[in-house]
Amino acid sequence: VKHARSLLFLALPLFVAFGCADRGDPVAPAGEGPNPEPTVSYQNDVQPIWNANCLSCHGGNGGLFLTASISRANLVGVVSFGYAPAIRVVPGEPDSSVLFQKLSGNSLFGQRMPAGGALSADDLETVRLWVEEGALDN
Ligand code: HEC
Repeated sequence: VKHARSLLFLALPLFVAFGCADRGDPVAPAGEGPNPEPTVSYQNDVQPIWNANCLSCHGGNGGLFLTASISRANLVGVVSFGYAPAIRVVPGEPDSSVLFQKLSGNSLFGQRMPAGGALSADDLETVRLWVEEGALDN
């Protein structure tokens, strides 16, 4: 049993690494079509997270604006100011997105956001799903 488990741990990152190569489309869970119904709405689910946690610092000045009318345009496909050439949000790829990495606090791109705190696990999952579902304008 021990041996089988360690094989799984070895195989999983490989699968993830190769599964991500050359994939431009949003991830579709196995068994569903290429465009499953999105479960997250940007305006109704994601923007309120910015409103509650980010606008004190990203509301008016500085390089990243997260106010409702312009937040998505400031995120999706935009080269990061502090971590170029990394992209703030790569549709379908949370792990390649500066935004998601900074929110999960794994220090690939500097300090965790929101600076001085952390999102709840639920909010973090909402952001992750939004990116994974293609970072839609919905
Ligand atoms: C207390 C102030 C503060 C709060 C609140 C805050 N940030 Fe930041 N944020 C910063 C500062 C300062 C930087 C620049 C330094 C850095 O990259 O860590 C930054 C940088 C970033 C960057 C990198 C931008 C780039 O292109 O380099 C992202 C993405 C980001 N913040 C997202 C967020 C999100 C999303 C929230 C809310 C969940 C948030 N931040 C809340 C202060 C804040």
